[in-house]
Amino acid sequence: MRLPTHQLPQALIHTPYGRDASIAEALLREAGATSRVCPDLASLELALGEDACFVLVTEEALRGTDLGGIAAKVAAQPTWSDLPFIVLTRGGGGPERNPAAAHLSEALGNVTFLERPFHPATLVSIAHSALKGRNRQFEARARIEELRESEERLQTALLAGRLGSWEFDIEAGVLTSSATCKAVFGRGPNVPFTYSDLLASIHPLDRDRMQAAVRASITDGIDYAIEYRTLWPDGSTHWAEIRARVVRDRYGARPRLVGVSSDITDRKTAEDRLHQLNETLEERVALRTTELRRAHDAALVEAAERERMEDLLRQSQKMEAVGQLTGGLAHDFNNLLAGITGSLELLQARVRQGRTAELERFIGMAQEAATRAAALTHRLLAFSRRQTLDPRPTDVGRLAAGLSDLISRTVGPSITVEMTSASNLWPTLVDPNQLENALLNLCINARDAMPDGGRIRIEVENVILNPLQAEPRGLSPGGYVSLGVTDTGTGMSPDIVERAFDPFFTTKPIGQGTGLGLSMIYGFARQSGGQVRIHSEVGRGTTIRLYLPRHLTSAAAPEEASLSPGLPPQAEPGETVLVVDDEPSVRMLVVEVLGDLGYAALEAEDGRSGLEILRSAARVDLLVSDVGLPGGMNGRQLADAGRALRPGLKVLFITGYAESAVMGAYPTSGMSVLTKPFALEGLAAKIKALIAGDPSPS
Ligand SMILES: Nc1ncnc2c1ncn2[C@@H]1O[C@H](COP(=O)(O)OP(=O)(O)OP(=O)(O)O)[C@@H](O)[C@H]1O
Ligand SMILES: [Mg+2]
Repeated sequence: MRLPTHQLPQALIHTPYGRDASIAEALLREAGATSRVCPDLASLELALGEDACFVLVTEEALRGTDLGGIAAKVAAQPTWSDLPFIVLTRGGGGPERNPAAAHLSEALGNVTFLERPFHPATLVSIAHSALKGRNRQFEARARIEELRESEERLQTALLAGRLGSWEFDIEAGVLTSSATCKAVFGRGPNVPFTYSDLLASIHPLDRDRMQAAVRASITDGIDYAIEYRTLWPDGSTHWAEIRARVVRDRYGARPRLVGVSSDITDRKTAEDRLHQLNETLEERVALRTTELRRAHDAALVEAAERERMEDLLRQSQKMEAVGQLTGGLAHDFNNLLAGITGSLELLQARVRQGRTAELERFIGMAQEAATRAAALTHRLLAFSRRQTLDPRPTDVGRLAAGLSDLISRTVGPSITVEMTSASNLWPTLVDPNQLENALLNLCINARDAMPDGGRIRIEVENVILNPLQAEPRGLSPGGYVSLGVTDTGTGMSPDIVERAFDPFFTTKPIGQGTGLGLSMIYGFARQSGGQVRIHSEVGRGTTIRLYLPRHLTSAAAPEEASLSPGLPPQAEPGETVLVVDDEPSVRMLVVEVLGDLGYAALEAEDGRSGLEILRSAARVDLLVSDVGLPGGMNGRQLADAGRALRPGLKVLFITGYAESAVMGAYPTSGMSVLTKPFALEGLAAKIKALIAGDPSPS
């Protein structure tokens, strides 16, 4: 270590007599030491200190003086310091022969005696050695100082980190600890703190763990690091963190556990609180989740309940509609039945009384009521799309034009009827009678909506519906013929539009409307593969438009064969008709008519017995069969089987309502259909025409 020049250690010279001092100064300079001359003992004593490198004195200067002050200073030197004294003697020699010199050795410690006269080189050499020795002491001082400084730094760090330091002598079982360390265990700085005190202040639940860690550290040399709870003398519980390592002396002996301890109660409390917070957070999340789930479940229950209520509502609406339907039906039928039964009762009474004059009138009344009842069932069947349609290729424009007179007469003079019809109209495949019925009904509705007169426009045109237009109308894309009837009447509110197709829905007073017109038109349009739509604005008028699918295959509609019954035709002798019907009254009726016409009749009550007859050799000119037959073979199957046996067999089907599906594309040539109920005249005409060979009698 290089010291600044002004602090350079100086040799102290105390040679009070003659030129000794100046000679000594010169010689010491030669030995490499700067020196300072102390003229008296007091100044020498004062100058003694750490920056003296050695002292050169003559024995005679010290003789008879009180060396107490100097000796005290020498004795008070720090441990590293052993200030060398060079004592110049005269005669007498060193302490071994000179008691006075021995006394000096005792008082001054590190003394070298040099007897005068001496060779100057000897003094230079001795001074040089003293200087070297003293320099080594200065180096030791520097090391000690460094050590102290680093110790101070360590202490500062420990203090700043609030770390207590401690050392446990494992073999001796002695614990030494800093004040901070004691504070970690709740002890004051001056309170003794032994290893058993330490053990006693560890929480009983943590003590075993701590001792195991200490043992592991000693035997395996692994670092000791542990957290445990401490019990303070005041009864409170705290947390301590301890880290240590085993150290040994340079011979590998005296193992000690040296380490630091700190109070981590605050950290632990914060961790605990965080932990609790997390736990309650989880709890709160769980709680909230449960709440949400409950709300969700409740919503589901509510939705299910709503759906149930909607179902109930729909059901009740359906029931209301059914009630309306059956109520209307019952009402109308009761009226008609009253007409029939009343007439029959009157008839019976008159027959009993023998009054025959008015019989015709009552029969006529009963027949009229029965006809109206038949028409009513027809309209119902039309609505239910189960009427027996007789589709033919039809020019709707021509059909409408043919009806215009009748329409004008029906609506009356206060209403103008206009009719426009596109040229090159496509044919459609519909039942022309039903279409006429529908058009007439639409015009009557229009008339009823214009009590003060107005205008009806009937338009017929071709339309092509692309997928976007077809879909909302419930149709498949393609070509249609549209028949529209527009009036300038009252119009309909949206809720009336919504219900207008319901059977028996009417806004008209009792007796004026049955509410079956539009429902029938709807059923007819759907059954014909088309659609019907309402556009209406209250106060402005209504357009009701029928869409009927374009009929692609056929060319012009053949004119209907007009079969005016005229006089009932008569049979050729031997002509025989096979009648198959499960209903005896119908069979009897048909056989009766056949007898009147002069035909022979064979009867069967189901398909199988009918087929037996066809298999036999019996003559059969015509098969008249119900379509719905019991016993697993319907009329159509019977006809097919019969034709297989007798090719060209002529067939007349009599049908109620549900068989139209069974009929499909029937009838083909040599076949015809008659819908129940039928007039006997019509039956006779059909039978005659078929036997006579008319290919498609109407
Ligand atoms: N052109 C129209 N203008 C205004 N309202 C109409 C029109 N057509 C039908 N309606 C309304 O629709 C209801 C049902 O008509 P729908 O033809 O089915 O029965 P109705 O005419 O009342 O009786 P029905 O035709 O059986 O004699 C009518 O009562 C009426 O309220
Ligand atoms: Mg109507």
